[in-house]
Amino acid sequence: MSQLDAMAEPSLQQWHPENYEAKARFVSDLGAPVLALLDPQPGERVLDLGCGDGALTEQLVALGARVIGVDASAAMVAGARARGLEAQMLNGQELKFEAGFEAVFSNAALHWMLQPERVIAGVHRALVPGGRFVAEMGGHGNVAEIHGALERALDARGLRAPHDTFFPTPEHYGAMLEAGGFGVESISLIPRPTPLPGDVGDWITTFAQGFLAPLPPEERPALVAEVVEALRPQLLGADGCWRADYVRLRFRAIRR
Ligand code: BEZ
Repeated sequence: MSQLDAMAEPSLQQWHPENYEAKARFVSDLGAPVLALLDPQPGERVLDLGCGDGALTEQLVALGARVIGVDASAAMVAGARARGLEAQMLNGQELKFEAGFEAVFSNAALHWMLQPERVIAGVHRALVPGGRFVAEMGGHGNVAEIHGALERALDARGLRAPHDTFFPTPEHYGAMLEAGGFGVESISLIPRPTPLPGDVGDWITTFAQGFLAPLPPEERPALVAEVVEALRPQLLGADGCWRADYVRLRFRAIRR
């Protein structure tokens, strides 16, 4: 695992709310199981860590929670604020809250945070004793087909991309949670082949910009097209739908 600058938004991956709406809405649309695991109660103070454009934050508010969203992307924070939500631009590795929340919630964000011990320490500080940390992220084996095909296409050009995501096993993340002062109630890997709104090339240009960064912009479309062809047998279904080989890591932990 490479270490990106912990103080900054990962510079290779940029988010835009309009593109997110068109190409990535499925990420929050599939958030129901982790919301159910959180089981937010009216009046509870909840921190939404990596809130993105606030689609799930909005659902937490609708359930009666008092929610603050934080995200490292200024554009996504602006998107969340445009929904009327309280949102701050903050790196998840730099949380500054002190015992202010009954729960910390996170969906599809922790895998971008390459210093998980710092995240866990910040979440621990942010929670009251007995508070819960409930999250879903990419887990071990997540998008292995897609990332593998991208690595092979770069390798054929004599190039490599820095790893900018972290997909841990339950054993690894669970041990970090325990070491960080949490009791782990549940943690497991959930293979979830995920239907995409377009083809896997759209997924790559939305979610895997770090793999394209080593190439000059004019050479990126050819690499993406090559990778789409390489992945067609594994990821394009007989129904004409592309599915990403997602594996989720979902957990619920209690602050000691
Ligand atoms: C995910 O949500 O699993 C994911 C997001 C971006 C890149 C890779 C995986």
